[in-house]
Amino acid sequence: MTSYFKGFPQSDRNEKIDMINVDELEERAKKVMPEGAYYYIASGSENEWTWRANTSAFNHYQIVPRALTGMDNPSTETEFMGMKLKTPIMISPIACHGIAHKDAEVATQEGAAAAGALFSSSTYANKSVEDIAAAAPDAPRFFQLYLSKDWDFNKMVFEAINKAGYKGIFLTVDALVSGYREANLRTKFTYPVPLDFFTRYLGGKGEGQSVAQMYASSAQNISPADVERIKKESGLPVFIKGVMCAEDAYKALGAGADGIYVTNHGGREVDGAPATIDVLPEIAKAVNHRVPIIFDSGVRRGSHVFKALAMGADLVGIGRPYLYGLALGGAKGVESVIDQLDDELKIDMQLTGCKTIDDVKHAKIDSIHYGRDDLPSNTDPSRIKPYPKTADNQIKQEAETDATSGASHH
Ligand SMILES: Cc1cc2nc3c(=O)[nH]c(=O)nc-3n(C[C@H](O)[C@H](O)[C@H](O)COP(=O)(O)O)c2cc1C
Repeated sequence: MTSYFKGFPQSDRNEKIDMINVDELEERAKKVMPEGAYYYIASGSENEWTWRANTSAFNHYQIVPRALTGMDNPSTETEFMGMKLKTPIMISPIACHGIAHKDAEVATQEGAAAAGALFSSSTYANKSVEDIAAAAPDAPRFFQLYLSKDWDFNKMVFEAINKAGYKGIFLTVDALVSGYREANLRTKFTYPVPLDFFTRYLGGKGEGQSVAQMYASSAQNISPADVERIKKESGLPVFIKGVMCAEDAYKALGAGADGIYVTNHGGREVDGAPATIDVLPEIAKAVNHRVPIIFDSGVRRGSHVFKALAMGADLVGIGRPYLYGLALGGAKGVESVIDQLDDELKIDMQLTGCKTIDDVKHAKIDSIHYGRDDLPSNTDPSRIKPYPKTADNQIKQEAETDATSGASHH
């Protein structure tokens, strides 16, 4: 089923997604989304080397299985900045959820709250922060800030997010301009649905703007002094989103940052940047538990979440997978994506004797170099078509999952 915003088709589904893994949702979402919208989400910058490395670099690290651990029923509950969460998996901020679903961020917040995950809204959200908060009044949420050159705009944002009960700010510093994303040029992508804060402030609309135009209105020149000013004027804790080396972690802490967000923007900015998991250890060492660390980029498996937690993260964000879930199943689709990763995480927790997320943070990780084995194999389920499913559980070539409806033939 589809509804339309000025001719732009938006999903209006609200159903759980039957899936084997979250990676397969990319192919399935491609079949139901307009081309420009799909490529805006899926793509990275330039040759997409960093985009690919983000996921494959998890293979540089190994989870050591543990024996005779005497535990069962692991729990993924965790606490973050005084908030109780059912899972350490977080909804990373993504612009314009309206390209995936008519209820946009409202549906995502609903799905995140149902799964007990921390939600974060982008400055470029379609829905207002008030409507998002109303979707799950008791659920915790953070706000991602693209600092504007115009401090009146920034002040309007601070006032609104404080009133709506947002718990803190992710200040994005790795996307001062848009990375060179060729897919957007090929499809001539522009935001098809208005972005609430721009509509409010400019009396105009974000609608019809290119990604480059949107970035042009945000500040390119951000320094430690801005961090202090944002903290003072918003009165909220500020995390620096886009820290990729120990030096910048020190700089952020020196500026009074309340947390460090390790990310390369999902391989959408500097192509050739290292995979985030490869830089996490040096940053965790520099931060040394003084403030919490959030990690994202390339997370597609429960084992990836496990590795990031074991290597220094307190929360692990996902981006593209939940947006595909939103397109395929609305709020319940988002919930399904978080639940799938959380279920996979629990399997690894049982097999390593980790009863709690705190145990995962102390789990044993190896880093044995296997040469070219870190490239995807022919049997990697994320690279091949989803396994066909049949009622009698025998694999038959002709049986296919119905990718467009998300329903299986059970
Ligand atoms: C379509 C899309 C839009 C995004 N928009 C924003 C944004 O508005 N603000 C921001 O800080 N990060 C944004 N990001 C980056 C995400 O917060 C996150 O770092 C990234 O998606 C993680 O990588 P993953 O998609 O591989 O999980 C966006 C990412 C995607 C895929």
